[in-house]
Amino acid sequence: MTIKNILITGGAGFIGSHVVRRFVNLFPNYNIFNLDKLTYAGNLENLKDVENNSNYTFIKGDITDADFIQDLFHKYLFDGVIHLAAESHVDRSISNPLEFVITNVVGTVNLLNAAKTIWHNNYNNKVFYHVSTDEVYGQLGDEGKFLEITAYSPNSPYSASKASSDHFVRAYHHTYGMPIKISNCSNNYGSHHFPEKLIPLMINNIIHNKPLPVYGKGENVRDWLFVEDHARAIDYIFHKGKIGDTYNIGGNNEWKNIELVKFLCALMDAKLGRASGENEKLITYVTDRAGHDFRYAIDASKFMNELGWEPSVTFEQGLEKTVDWYMANSEWLQNVTTGNYQQYYQAMYAKR
Ligand code: NAD
Ligand code: DAU
Repeated sequence: MTIKNILITGGAGFIGSHVVRRFVNLFPNYNIFNLDKLTYAGNLENLKDVENNSNYTFIKGDITDADFIQDLFHKYLFDGVIHLAAESHVDRSISNPLEFVITNVVGTVNLLNAAKTIWHNNYNNKVFYHVSTDEVYGQLGDEGKFLEITAYSPNSPYSASKASSDHFVRAYHHTYGMPIKISNCSNNYGSHHFPEKLIPLMINNIIHNKPLPVYGKGENVRDWLFVEDHARAIDYIFHKGKIGDTYNIGGNNEWKNIELVKFLCALMDAKLGRASGENEKLITYVTDRAGHDFRYAIDASKFMNELGWEPSVTFEQGLEKTVDWYMANSEWLQNVTTGNYQQYYQAMYAKR
């Protein structure tokens, strides 16, 4: 059995922690190195169940520190990289675009440079896999879906930074022969999701009987995928995807925000023993997000046909699992919503 050293960046975050858990549990021949700066979004509690596994190592570090990243690659001579570390919240990118450029663009180029340095004369069996988003394609009207060939047209500072990082990854393949793969996925939901994003924020506010801030008229549409299905998709692409290729990943599961929030309210009326319709009374329409993309929808048929992937749960099943997880993990929720989160929430929602 060949032992390989695999670097996963951003493994203490929402999606990254599901990817790390999957790889540590399924692939004993991999030494999994989780590199994470532990920003507000990174949380080692997400990985308590695997932290003592012999094939798992956590490294606290910053992808924007080029010297540190070079040293790390020379020390562990990684065979593969799965890059998820990023600033990921659109609203924060509107308040502080530069932070997104530095982490998402400069951080990605630092990793590419380090991989190029250690792999330069031998790209055999090496993979640099960049995890990206459907938001790079911009927004859709009522019709159509994003394909891999859809032109990039990012609208927010977040999506512009992710689009830029995708371009650098592609450029390193074209210019230096770097063995890259990219995937562009739709909105994820599931356990361990930081409650600044729509679904966990609404779950947290419903539990605490707080107003449910719906941006604009709630007409915007997102295509939701259960996070464990995304982690499995990343596994398939890492192992079976073509070098130099891009794959779109999505749940074929479009919801208007307001319909989703109402569905969640009804589900949680029952879970919390509240009267039917009680939670819906918490819905509050607030000032829209600046530049708010209207609709995202992914055509994942290339990925599904080529690599044989499909979602394993319906949205109803996945959402119920998610709500149950948050209700059973009130301590996790409390730990991440104290301190800085309170300040963020006041600042972000007071002005709406
Ligand atoms: P997240 O914000 O939950 O986690 C990001 C992680 O990156 C955190 O653990 C954070 O500490 C770490 N990080 C941030 N800056 C870092 C730095 N400078 N050095 C090292 N680590 C750093 O994000 P997520 O929602 O899990 O998203 C993960 C990746 O997937 C991102 O690249 C994102 O663009 C992409 N993505 C997310 C979604 C989604 O719906 N959440 C959908 C498609 C693609
Ligand atoms: O499409 C993939 C992307 O999905 C990822 O790349 C991003 O990292 C991830 O954050 C997510 O971006 P969105 O902006 O779509 O997700 P968010 O959960 O912030 O918002 C979902 C929708 O809900 C969006 O239309 C804005 C709206 N919204 C959001 C919040 C936080 C509200 O109406 N109220 C809210 O309080």
